Amino acid sequence: MEERTLSIIKPDGVSRNLIGAVIKRLEEEGLNIVAMKMIRMTKEQAKEFYKIHEGKPFYESVTDFMSSGPCVVMILEGENVIQRYRKLMGATNYKEAEEGTIRREFATDIEKNVVHGSDSEENARFEINHFFNALEIAVR
Ligand code: CMP
Repeated sequence: MEERTLSIIKPDGVSRNLIGAVIKRLEEEGLNIVAMKMIRMTKEQAKEFYKIHEGKPFYESVTDFMSSGPCVVMILEGENVIQRYRKLMGATNYKEAEEGTIRREFATDIEKNVVHGSDSEENARFEINHFFNALEIAVR
C-alpha cells in the first residue's frame, strides 16, 4: 500500500554532520523523499509534536532536546514506507537496535537517537501536517 511517513534528522544528527549519511541510507533503501526542509522547533512546537508522550518521564527532556537545535524534516513515500523506515531506523534504544540500522550505527543515547519516524498511519498524518502544507509536497 502506498503511504507516507514523517522522518526527522534530530539535532544530534544535524550537529554531528550526519544529514548526508542518513539521506544516503534512505535513498539506498528506495524510500522516496517527497518533501524536505530544515527547521528549528520552539519548545512549544516540540511539546505539540510529542503530545502523545505528555506525562511520560522523558517528555520534558525530549522536548528540550528537540528544540535545542535545527532538525531536517522529510516526508517519505512508498509501499509500506512506515514499517520499512522503522526497520531501517532500528529500535528507539540504540543498544537494542539491529546491526545495519541507522540507530545502531550512529545513535549515542536513548534520547539522542539521530532519527525519528512515525509509528502508525494516524500519527504519520498528524506529524506530516505539523510541519508541511500541501504546496511543499512534491508529486513524484
Ligand atoms: P522518538 O522515536 O522520536 O519518540 C520519542 C522520543 O523520546 C524517542 O525517539 C527518544 O528520542 C526519546 N526518549 C527518551 N527516553 C525514551 C524512552 N525511555 N522511551 C522512548 N523514547 C524515549
